[in-house]
Amino acid sequence: MRYYVSISKNVMRTKLIAGNWKMHLDPRQSRVLVRRIEKHAPFKDVDVVVCPTALSLAAVADTANNVAVGVQNIHYQDEGAFTGEISASMAKQYARYAIVGHSERRQHFGETDAVVARKMAAAVRNELVPIMCIGENLFQRLDRETKHVIHDQLMTGLTMLTGRDVRGIAIAYEPIWAIGTGDNAKPEQVKQAVDYIRGTVSEMFGKGVAEQVRILYGGSVKAATAPGYLKLDGVDGVLVGGASLVADEFINIIDSA
Ligand code: PGA
Repeated sequence: MRYYVSISKNVMRTKLIAGNWKMHLDPRQSRVLVRRIEKHAPFKDVDVVVCPTALSLAAVADTANNVAVGVQNIHYQDEGAFTGEISASMAKQYARYAIVGHSERRQHFGETDAVVARKMAAAVRNELVPIMCIGENLFQRLDRETKHVIHDQLMTGLTMLTGRDVRGIAIAYEPIWAIGTGDNAKPEQVKQAVDYIRGTVSEMFGKGVAEQVRILYGGSVKAATAPGYLKLDGVDGVLVGGASLVADEFINIIDSA
């Protein structure tokens, strides 16, 4: 006998506030920043994660108690002759989360949707929570291609996962034109994209899965703009770059969740 999850708007998804430190902060600086964030703990009804460089994972993991640690990138294999790469099976000793398919990886390092799919599988296989980043560039938005782009990224990126896997992942809608530009997306644009993402996940895996997957917004989020996204129905958190490097900013964003 099979039980279906009833479809309601009231499924509780704990908000997720993630900081992507990118290629900033050495291990000592990383420890200082996480300590400042930890001072503000415990956090109420919100999951907080910071993603330092791979070099700082151990330092941050040693220092953090309430803040979870995420890795910014993983390889899709668990080990092998891949100079300079790190695997999910190694990262999981320090990290609980993994950013997968960030647009900077796609743009500068040639990551395709097919590679993203394999990395998603590697994360799940190693019990890391992947935060899969998707989103259109400016030309695609101007060409009204946003939905097509998101659709293709989801269809391929999630292709190696089961519905059960997808329940536990996070998807970050990160329009490329909004990342690091200060040109953050308007809440109504985010709402449209996030609804479309949840609808696509529902088509692919069913409503029960779509109700549980967490969907975040990322792109020039600051303490001043975060509440506008976090209050939107269906937005389950934010992925923050630049502002996550400033303790007070990041703490204010956490507080607005
Ligand atoms: P930003 O970066 O907040 O600096 O725009 C967001 C991201 O890249 O995840």
